[in-house]
Amino acid sequence: MNEKKLPLGVLVSGRGSNLEAILKGCAAGTLPAEVKVVVSNRKGVPALKKAESYGVLGVAVCRQKGESRSSHETRVARVLKESRVDLVVLAGYDLLVGPALLDEFPQKIINVHPALLPAFPGLFAQRQALLYGVKVSGASVIFVDETVDGGPIIVQEAVDVLEGDTEESLAARILEVEHRILPEAITLIARGRVTLEGRRVSIRKESSL
Ligand code: GRF
Repeated sequence: MNEKKLPLGVLVSGRGSNLEAILKGCAAGTLPAEVKVVVSNRKGVPALKKAESYGVLGVAVCRQKGESRSSHETRVARVLKESRVDLVVLAGYDLLVGPALLDEFPQKIINVHPALLPAFPGLFAQRQALLYGVKVSGASVIFVDETVDGGPIIVQEAVDVLEGDTEESLAARILEVEHRILPEAITLIARGRVTLEGRRVSIRKESSL
């Protein structure tokens, strides 16, 4: 049976390895979704080239000098709406999201973060984890709200911090997990298994039918 595909818009700013994990899953048929558009706030980044290599529309919507966040977000939202996306995935998007975008996609924007939230939100999460000295960090996929990485948590997975770890070595091991749990979260949402009550996300068990 052909499963219905969830139309995605992916927001990126740089390398695009999480985007690639999504595109691979869609192409392989392991992810019941289709990337309709990739929007970058920076021109010429590798993530846009990855979109192109998978035959997916990639658009740069850069914030102009002096442009308000809300005006920029309104332009981003227009591109996403034109492509009729039902879920917006932030995959290495380096801008904070505000009301102009959130109101257009209520509870339909998710983000992947390289730490076990609520620990180490914001930039350089792996560096924060090493400096703090935690023995376990990890990756989280969350619903985006107006806070910095403070939205409801959908999926998390732990990664051990090893003796001698550097920011790079820890980031690389966490990234492998990101590439697994971001597609997993999208799959759960696509299959209608995710519900939100307050800040608590429930995942319905897979039906045996
Ligand atoms: C990832 O570690 C993501 O969690 C963080 O930024 C990085 C983006 O990497 N928000 P990529 O662009 O997906 O390769």
